[in-house]
Amino acid sequence: MNASPFDIGLYRQHLHHLQGEWEAALEALGADVAVLPSGIAAMYFQDDQAPPFHPNPHFARWLPGRDCEGSVLVVRPGAPAKLHFLGGDDYWHMPPTLPEWAADNLDVARHTDADDLASAISTELAGCKRPVLAGPADALDLNLRPHDVNPKEFTARLHYARAYKTDFELDRMRAASAAGAAGHIAARDAFLGGGSEFEIQLAFLAGSSQVTSELPYPSIVALGEHAGILHYQHYDRGRPNDTRSFLIDAGARADGYHSDITRTYTATPGDDFDELVQALDEKQQAMVAQVRPGMTYVDLHVRMHQEVADLLVRFDFVRCSAEAAFDLKLTDAFFPHGLGHLLGLQTHDVGGQFGAPDGTVTEPPERFPSLRLTRNIEPGQVFTVEPGLYFIPMLLDAIEERDAVNWVKVESFMRCGGIRIEDNVAVEADGVENLTRPAFAALEEAAS
Ligand code: GLY
Ligand code: MN
Ligand code: MN
Repeated sequence: MNASPFDIGLYRQHLHHLQGEWEAALEALGADVAVLPSGIAAMYFQDDQAPPFHPNPHFARWLPGRDCEGSVLVVRPGAPAKLHFLGGDDYWHMPPTLPEWAADNLDVARHTDADDLASAISTELAGCKRPVLAGPADALDLNLRPHDVNPKEFTARLHYARAYKTDFELDRMRAASAAGAAGHIAARDAFLGGGSEFEIQLAFLAGSSQVTSELPYPSIVALGEHAGILHYQHYDRGRPNDTRSFLIDAGARADGYHSDITRTYTATPGDDFDELVQALDEKQQAMVAQVRPGMTYVDLHVRMHQEVADLLVRFDFVRCSAEAAFDLKLTDAFFPHGLGHLLGLQTHDVGGQFGAPDGTVTEPPERFPSLRLTRNIEPGQVFTVEPGLYFIPMLLDAIEERDAVNWVKVESFMRCGGIRIEDNVAVEADGVENLTRPAFAALEEAAS
């Protein structure tokens, strides 16, 4: 997809920031150079076809975009990053092309042959004391000692640091949010027009200007009870007769950076499902508004369970108090996933459970093992806030306190599958920037 062009000044600042970050990581390890292969898409088993190429995220952070298969970066203290760019002639495929902004800001050596590129790297490393590899080990044979291939403490430090976005990264995530919101609006309209899951997905792709291989993750396009399958992966071709609801979890990329957005709609505005959607939406927005540095994400998750307990009482799904619904773990059956995760070059971005740069893990509470984010909340982080409330037979069947649930009411919502509302938020010094809501608002305003 063609995201809005980025500001070169922001990119330069970003490179400067990365240089400092990588120099510190190399120094902490006692290494003097890092080699970052972008990677090569491996063929399917006994086939001559490969899945879409996804660059090594360490590499992609320096050189945003995907048109870089087989290229390699060399990062060392006190020198600009060196890009060994693999181009060349090809009449089967369009060869990678080096953007001007990359040529202008990195020290570039161009290669047309992968073996020449590999030997240039070996020559470059000849005088180095301790080179380390950060990326797919099979992309380049450097004959390194195993503990210098993605050293654990080195990777942990880089992954920990990746949670804090630079202004360039925030700008790209705003662009990814804008593209994702455009896709969502097109998808919503396709739903309201009676479209099938397949037709809605096509509308999302067109609206966000993406082909399937460019998506940050496979869109979840779920009509009715399919919304109760958390990562529902099909796109039914048939138009259902009496769809009551629609959940779409779909995002976009801008220069490698992801958005991850979920919305839920009713087919019949003003019905009881619509009221539940609005109520969860209000809880989600209230939670986002409360986020401040100094909190922990675990606290937010627990608080959202208490809010879901409140909804279970308010909408008469349970026959007990909200405190009891929480204490009896009834909320776990209705809200069975984590409140969110870090977001960036990966949809579930790395380092979400690191309590310190050395990679010490902060485990999630025993009750919530699927919580991907346990970090203290700090400025610069970008994460999702995505509460859900679902009607999933498998989980409801397992509830032991049968008398605590109003099964008639629950049954009447089963055909709606469930609700999830997901925004992407960037933490600031005294609050948050919601990246998602303004993207929708700008499009709605332009359309009105
Ligand atoms: N789209 C996957 C997730 O929300 O985590
Ligand atoms: Mn999502
Ligand atoms: Mn998510």
